[in-house]
Parts: sequence; C-alpha cells; structure tokens
Amino acid sequence: MAEPVPRFDEERSAEIVAESFAACPDDRLRELLSALVGHLHAFSKEVELTQGELDAAVEFLTSTGRRCDETRQEFVLLSDVLGLSMLVDAIGNRSDVDATASTVLGPFHMVDSPPRELGDTISLAPGGEPVLVTGQVRSADGDPLPGALVDVWQADADGFYDVQRPAEVPERNLRGLFTADDEGRFWFRTILPAPYPIPDDGPVGTLLRATGRHPWRPAHIHFIVGAEGHAPLTTHIFVAGSPHLDSDAVFGVKDSLVVDFPRTDDARLGAEYGIPVPFRHAHVDFRLRVAP
Ligand code: BEZ
Ligand code: FE
Repeated sequence: MAEPVPRFDEERSAEIVAESFAACPDDRLRELLSALVGHLHAFSKEVELTQGELDAAVEFLTSTGRRCDETRQEFVLLSDVLGLSMLVDAIGNRSDVDATASTVLGPFHMVDSPPRELGDTISLAPGGEPVLVTGQVRSADGDPLPGALVDVWQADADGFYDVQRPAEVPERNLRGLFTADDEGRFWFRTILPAPYPIPDDGPVGTLLRATGRHPWRPAHIHFIVGAEGHAPLTTHIFVAGSPHLDSDAVFGVKDSLVVDFPRTDDARLGAEYGIPVPFRHAHVDFRLRVAP
C-alpha cells in the first residue's frame, strides 16, 4: 500500500510534493526532483503565476518539443539562450589549473568530422577569406600531448554550416579531425567564419523576439580536443573584432577564447603552409586538464 500523501496546502505545497518522492529508490533522482519542485513552487509564489501564464508556458514547451527531430534540438537551443548550457558547462569544468576554458557544444556537431592530414584545408567550396590555423595541445602543466585529437567545425563565410545548405556545399565542408604531431602541434587551412544567427524560426526565436533579444553569435571556430589521460575539451576560438562578441545569444564568449586573426602577406609563411598571400593567421594553444 502506498504511503498516504498529505492534503494539498498552499503554504506547504513544495514540502508536500517533495514528500511524495520519499520512496524513490534513486537518491540523485529524489534530490533533483525535490529541489526542482521546491524552486518551481517558490518561483510560482514569487511571481503569483496565473492559470493563463501556466497554459502559455505549457503551450510554449509543447511547441518546443514539436520542433525537435533528428537534425534540430529546440530544447538544447532553449537551454542555450537561457544560459543554462553555459551554467552546466561552468559547473562541470571548474578548474584550479591553467587549462583552456570550455564553452557550449552547440547543435551543429551532428555529423562525424572526417579525418584529415595536418596542413589539409577543411574548406571544400570556393570563396572565403583564407585562414591558417596553427596550434599546440599541451597538458595544463605545460607538457606537449603528442597525437592529441583536434576535431574542428565551423560556419562558412555566409554564416552557414554544411548541414544547413546540403544542396549547395560538399558534405563535411568546414569539418576535420586532425591528429597532432609528436609535439602536440597541429595546423590546417580554412576560411574566415562569419557571425550567424542561431536558428530562430521556431519557438526559441519567438521567445528572443518577444524579449527584444537578437539571435546572433560572433564569428567562431569550434573545437573538441582530446588526449589520452586528459579530460576532453569542448571549446571555440572567437574572431577578435567580430560583431556580437559582447552580446552572444548563447552567452558562450569568454575573454580568454577571443583570438586575433591578423592579416599577413608573409610569402615565406604562406609557401611553408601552402596558402596564398594575403591570408589571416590564428595561433591557438590548448591546455587540457588531467582526467579526474
Ligand atoms: C553554435 O555555435 O554552433 C551554436 C551554439 C548554440 C546554439 C546554436 C548554435
Ligand atoms: Fe557555431
């Protein structure tokens, strides 16, 4: 026989509902649900939530769910624009060592990046301003990490990922999986990404417009960097000077991740890396935390 639940009471509402989870055999689930109910009830009392507002919230969440499929995750986008993705990232990546900062994964790492050779270009379509990216992967203590894996993906010069314009660009355009050399060094060629709006033709876009917010992200290149014995790092580098660095729609910018992409006409460097002058050159060092 189930334990009787006390009669509902406005004042003790959260306590009463939390008690209903008392027999939950999973301690963490019980903790999460009890805290969630506590905060939801406190929130509703604080703002004196009306029935109409609750109905609107249910309708919003229903339409958010309806916008999800294999290629679109509107709930992740909602978590992103509410800053929840960045908060969970911050909680999970607290560090007292000198490691590279992490940031949001985003929804466009939805296909595997193709393995490429060091020095290859990831830009398989014509156009765009040429960029050379060079870097080194090291442990937080400074030791180089030979053979580190550097997974990279980015938007094109019009602000689109390959999966957003499959009829127009080759598959896996602007994606690559590189294996660093014996000193943890990596280098590849690409084009300058453009700032772009997050998908805003669904409920999340409606929310942004209703609150006077824009959907733009500053220009960036995504990375997931991995090495044996180290925690994988999900991060971006942001193009210094890009519009929207101070108002990223998903709160992903950290000052330490903003990188200069200076223009150069250094013909010797260009010849060394097989890139025509003039080009931009970004150098980035990644430092990984030792796995817990
Ligand atoms: C991205 O940078 O790919 C991204 C991140 C969060 C939401 C939408 C896009
Ligand atoms: Fe992105």
